[in-house]
Amino acid sequence: MKAYINVCDVEKYYGGDAGVTKAVDRVSFQVAEGEFVGVMGASGSGKTTLLNMLSTIDSVTAGHIYYGDTDITELKPDGLAKFRKQNLGFVFQEYNLLDTLTIGENIVLAMTLQNKSRKVIKKDSEEMMRLLGIWEIRDKFPYQVSGGQKQRCACARALINRPKLLLADEPTGALDSRAAETLLETFQKLNETRRATIFMVTHDAFSASYCGRILFLKDGQIFHELIRGRKDRREFLNNILDVLSMTGSMTHTATGTGEGFSAAVQDQRTGGDGDVR
Ligand SMILES: Nc1ncnc2c1ncn2[C@@H]1O[C@H](COP(=O)(O)OP(=O)(O)OP(=O)(O)O)[C@@H](O)[C@H]1O
Ligand SMILES: [Mg+2]
Repeated sequence: MKAYINVCDVEKYYGGDAGVTKAVDRVSFQVAEGEFVGVMGASGSGKTTLLNMLSTIDSVTAGHIYYGDTDITELKPDGLAKFRKQNLGFVFQEYNLLDTLTIGENIVLAMTLQNKSRKVIKKDSEEMMRLLGIWEIRDKFPYQVSGGQKQRCACARALINRPKLLLADEPTGALDSRAAETLLETFQKLNETRRATIFMVTHDAFSASYCGRILFLKDGQIFHELIRGRKDRREFLNNILDVLSMTGSMTHTATGTGEGFSAAVQDQRTGGDGDVR
């Protein structure tokens, strides 16, 4: 496997005199070009911290992250900005939309930053907004729309420039199962037809079942890995659910309790939420 991303002994510590939190604790893994990798783990296990280091938003305390031959932990601010612009698309857990711009303008802005022509911007942004079901609300401001609509806008903004690498933090967290499915199919299409590499954090086994490989985090460390291989999505979903139910410490954010999580696991097995086809 030719590594596209090579994460070597990465650590991130927070805190000082009052105590240190090891948010990410000596993590190493590789990602090949064109892989669709998922990251799962309980709340506080270090998923966002890991993603933010991969996306250069946050610095590492120790270790190195290589993209090809470039060590991004050594890049200066200018080099980092160029690297992000040329390679990355982000979907943040908190959406990060600009409140003074409409939904449509938030998406168009991402394209303007890439110096696209007006004609291309108009055509591509309309296509993406229609695909993700936000065309009708394009003239509304973020505070006037729902969490799920904001999330779809954030995804449209990240996908619109067809990034080489898409980093997404809980992109389906605020979506119903139908909207989640459309979004995941869009991710899949980007992955299959454009060989885009995708790194997606999710709590949701249904969303994770779209991935080719899943890293499971616990207390800042990778404790398990699942590879989809030739399995169909239903079989892979069951594998994921098995890992989640074995790790009793896992919780589900929707309920915040282990019990709720077990119920959610059962619900997904029986097809109650996000039917697998
Ligand atoms: N800026 C910060 N300062 C101090 N501690 C932090 C900071 N950011 C995260 N942490 C701590 O690092 C650990 C990992 O946090 P992180 O946000 O990566 O978790 P997560 O797996 O993304 O959780 P969630 O599923 O709730 O989003 C947690 O214990 C958290 O409290
Ligand atoms: Mg998080």
